Amino acid sequence: MLNKLKQWKRQQGSDSFEERFQELVKHPIPGHIAIIMDGNGRWAKKRALPRVAGHHEGMKCVRRITKLANELGVETLTLYAFSTENWKRPKMEVEFLMKLPEEFLGTFLPELIEENVQVRMMGSTGALPSNTTKAVTKAMEETRHNDGLILNFALNYGSRSEIIDSMKHVLKDVQNGILDENQINEEVFSSYLMTKDLKDPDLLIRTSGEIRLSNFMLWQLAYTEFFFTDVLWPDFGKEQLTEAIEAYQGRSRRFGGLQSEES
Ligand code: IPE
Ligand code: IPE
Ligand code: MG
Repeated sequence: MLNKLKQWKRQQGSDSFEERFQELVKHPIPGHIAIIMDGNGRWAKKRALPRVAGHHEGMKCVRRITKLANELGVETLTLYAFSTENWKRPKMEVEFLMKLPEEFLGTFLPELIEENVQVRMMGSTGALPSNTTKAVTKAMEETRHNDGLILNFALNYGSRSEIIDSMKHVLKDVQNGILDENQINEEVFSSYLMTKDLKDPDLLIRTSGEIRLSNFMLWQLAYTEFFFTDVLWPDFGKEQLTEAIEAYQGRSRRFGGLQSEES
């Protein structure tokens, strides 16, 4: 009887994604998922709404995907929330975007604490409004001891400036005798990046149909699997996350070597 019901549901497609989502954990789950959350403006435009309405809707999606990633046992979820290039946008839009972390954390911090999520941020804090920094610092402080999903916001983040800053830091340490020039290798350089405590992303997702990195984690994405979807970020949900992880699970990661059965 149950099987018949299942079969019928599958035919109807009513909960097939739910079932596929449940199946995901039977295969390797990406430890670190990074997402370029793009398409908020177009989502709003399609509905004749102001661009900021798309950003607001996108915030709800952050909550949804955080919960799902946590449920799947993903270790780190890095979300590109604001790039160093996004300052070029109209002042009003930038101001709205800067208020979102406060609103998001003001509403969902208790839930994140309850779900054992650890909030982190990467990006340069100097240019951020003090209320934004305060909200993020509070969240990081209050979730410091949590050991579930790491929710890492890339806020005022740009990969090129991250690399330049790290390079300057390396030079300074060499000049001060803290680091020997001959010791510099990939591992050492990685330890100077903002992601020093994180593993490189296993899966990168970009929404909205754009096929580019837009200055996101250029060093860290060297061997990451990419998944691009036309779906706009506010519409990204369980189905799309399932599709992305299924695609990842179907890939063969070789890191320049050969597949184990070929060696
Ligand atoms: C992504 O959505 C959010 C940020 C870049 C802050 P966009 O605002 O880039 O949306 P589109 O690309 O204009 O649709
Ligand atoms: C990348 O999206 C930055 C974020 C999602 C925060 P953009 O919308 O800024 O990227 P471009 O301008 O299309 O490359
Ligand atoms: Mg965009």
